[in-house]
Amino acid sequence: MKQGKQQGHLYLVGVGPGDPELMTYKAVRVLEQTQVWVVPKAKANGASSALEIASAMVDAVAKEVLEVRFPMKKIRLGQDHDPEVQQGWQEAAKIVLARLAQGEDVAFPTLGDPGLYSTSFYLLNTLEEMLVQSQHKQQRQQRIPVAIIPGVTAMSACSAQLHDPLGLGDDVLSVVPAAFDDVRLRDILLQSDAVVLMKVFRRLPAVIALLDELGLTDKAVLLERCGMDGQRVYTDIRKAADKELHYFSTLLIRKKQISKVV
Ligand SMILES: C[S@@+](CC[C@H](N)C(=O)[O-])C[C@H]1O[C@@H](n2cnc3c(N)ncnc32)[C@H](O)[C@@H]1O
Repeated sequence: MKQGKQQGHLYLVGVGPGDPELMTYKAVRVLEQTQVWVVPKAKANGASSALEIASAMVDAVAKEVLEVRFPMKKIRLGQDHDPEVQQGWQEAAKIVLARLAQGEDVAFPTLGDPGLYSTSFYLLNTLEEMLVQSQHKQQRQQRIPVAIIPGVTAMSACSAQLHDPLGLGDDVLSVVPAAFDDVRLRDILLQSDAVVLMKVFRRLPAVIALLDELGLTDKAVLLERCGMDGQRVYTDIRKAADKELHYFSTLLIRKKQISKVV
């Protein structure tokens, strides 16, 4: 950070899963009060969902909106990351760092909640790494002033839409990013009472095959674009197997009823 200038604040703002009315007052206030928005998008020529949601509640016309690209690739923690993904994080971090150094506050709207499979923590981590690299040893304690504004998660919106709880009583709930062809999924499905499968869109046929094998297909419901235009609810998930699902698709599985059903 430049000497003598008060650095700006970074706000990681959860904007909820799509229905703009699910944005919190705090998210709306922070976005209203922040002039620079750095918004994530997956494709260079695509739209930013976070921006679409945010701008339904806060006028983005008067804002400086800087789009940054986070390619949609698998990320495994503790392993080397795809160079394209890393480049995306670094380019975004450089943009944010430059604005903070100028004393400008920056908002980073993100889908759902920032703490749940969101790009925002990759950005924050990259920012902190860059800051450490750019500082002298004695300044290493300096941190970026950051505030994280929680948001309604997609799974909460899906649960509300279905009138079905995520977890209840002694339920063990697992949340899984189903994009991974991971042997753990079978064990998780066996051991959990309720499972939320996110990022399920391209994996649905394989997931249905596994659920069929475990006798769980009829316990699963799929929600596509929950709370958004074009929302679809599949209570028979087999009917979705041959569909080209939107990335915003979540599968909820609950094994138990509240009372013993006779
Ligand atoms: C990168 S994760 C982001 C999760 C988000 N941070 C949250 O708190 O829910 C993207 C996944 O969230 C789920 N998702 C997001 N919005 C959704 C919606 N409106 N309807 C259904 N699923 C949604 C889908 O499973 C999608 O693949």
